[in-house]
Amino acid sequence: MELSRHEFELLRDYIYKICGLVIADNKQYLIRQRLEPLALTIGCLNFTEFYRKITESSLPPQTKNRFQEQVINAITTNETSFFRDGHPFAAFREYILPRLNERICERKQRLQSRKGPKVRLWSAGSSTGQEPYSLVMLIKEYSQAANQKHQFSMIPVSMEDFVILATDISTEMLARAMAGEYNDAEMKRGLDPERVKAYFKKNGRRWIISSSVRSMVEFRQINLIRPFTMLGGFDVIFCRNVLIYFDIETKTRIIAQFSEMLSDKGFLVLGATENVYGITDRFDSVHHGETLFYQKK
Ligand SMILES: C[S@@+](CC[C@H](N)C(=O)[O-])C[C@H]1O[C@@H](n2cnc3c(N)ncnc32)[C@H](O)[C@@H]1O
Repeated sequence: MELSRHEFELLRDYIYKICGLVIADNKQYLIRQRLEPLALTIGCLNFTEFYRKITESSLPPQTKNRFQEQVINAITTNETSFFRDGHPFAAFREYILPRLNERICERKQRLQSRKGPKVRLWSAGSSTGQEPYSLVMLIKEYSQAANQKHQFSMIPVSMEDFVILATDISTEMLARAMAGEYNDAEMKRGLDPERVKAYFKKNGRRWIISSSVRSMVEFRQINLIRPFTMLGGFDVIFCRNVLIYFDIETKTRIIAQFSEMLSDKGFLVLGATENVYGITDRFDSVHHGETLFYQKK
């Protein structure tokens, strides 16, 4: 299907409006390749007809929302893998988790109860779920090891001390994340045989994540270009490989809300090519191994 300059501009602006994604002039092929199947499915023979159909002012709100959802599901890039890039997860295990453990102990002691307020983690832009599930595996392994070592000076942590929220704009990716089912290719990316054995069961050609990992994550649809501080406070936010798709105004709004939501000394982990420089000075940089992440001042 041909995509004229005018059609590209109309669809590019529509996409920006509904989800903040910036599609550069040299990425016109993304619109052509990703939206053509949808255009054909809803009976349109060219992009002008498609644009008119999905933006028609007389559309009932439900239909308008359904078209938006279909465009978002088709246009977003959902690349992910378990323990993606390795080192940010090593930093989480070696640097962030011990500090969360201390935080849990302090909160429990302050309340003079073994049931303190939980430590809250958020995977924002979680795609098919590998990122939040990787975090759960690390928390499980950390609490098992910490409790085995009998660190009497510390109150042992358990999975009950953590809450993990995972959000994405794409309903299709959220459904896949919630199902927690992966194919062989996805399993080969980032998982070692011990973790496959510990956390997955094979069912036909699919690998199903264990319910003890699955049940630790709450999934919700959140569009990061709309206000989201109602999600409450967090101790750690992972938002990796999401901000790269936005312009500076959108990034600034998102980072400002992250900083508002993070607890004092809370952690923000971004993707390898993302940073907060020139956007905010509310964070200190922390270097750990190959990883750079941020801690709220
Ligand atoms: C490349 S994936 C990153 C997945 C994971 N964080 C990682 O690093 O492996 C980017 C995700 O951001 C989501 N996304 C894109 N625009 C969004 C928006 N406006 N609000 C929330 N999520 C969005 C996409 O649906 C996609 O699943």
